[in-house]
Amino acid sequence: MALRQIRLKNDPILRKKSREVEKIDDRIKQIVEDMFETMYENKGIGLACVQVGMLKRIVVIDMQDEDGQMVLINPKIIQKSDEKQINVEGCLSIPGENGYVERPKTVTVEYTDLNGNIQQKTASDYKAHCFCHELDHLDGVLYTDKVLNLSEEEIERLNNEK
Ligand code: NI
Repeated sequence: MALRQIRLKNDPILRKKSREVEKIDDRIKQIVEDMFETMYENKGIGLACVQVGMLKRIVVIDMQDEDGQMVLINPKIIQKSDEKQINVEGCLSIPGENGYVERPKTVTVEYTDLNGNIQQKTASDYKAHCFCHELDHLDGVLYTDKVLNLSEEEIERLNNEK
């Protein structure tokens, strides 16, 4: 295992589109291990491969919940609710900052796991945020592109209207 350096917000690689993983070999498994180690070291709950400098469609997530460690290879959102939610997001590539972002309340993601099996996972609330945030990274999108410029009172009101 090895810690990898996290790319920070002005690094142009963060704006590039990542490429599909064609074969899950030992090299990919090593990258995934390194991604987890790097994420834990930096106290993150999710990390996209591009954030450690490789344009591969791989996301790791660990929200310390019943799902444990999740490895999502070539993930796609296949369903999302019309209902939206607003939550605070941060990003290991943008340390020390955070902002409110609107995301679907519930999303279903289809992905390949580390054993090469196709899986589907439906998540709501903050985990849906996490999926959307990490999948955006694979297309060169940062949460700051979507930050709402609203006061705390306005956000409170919007969330209460739902
Ligand atoms: Ni991020």
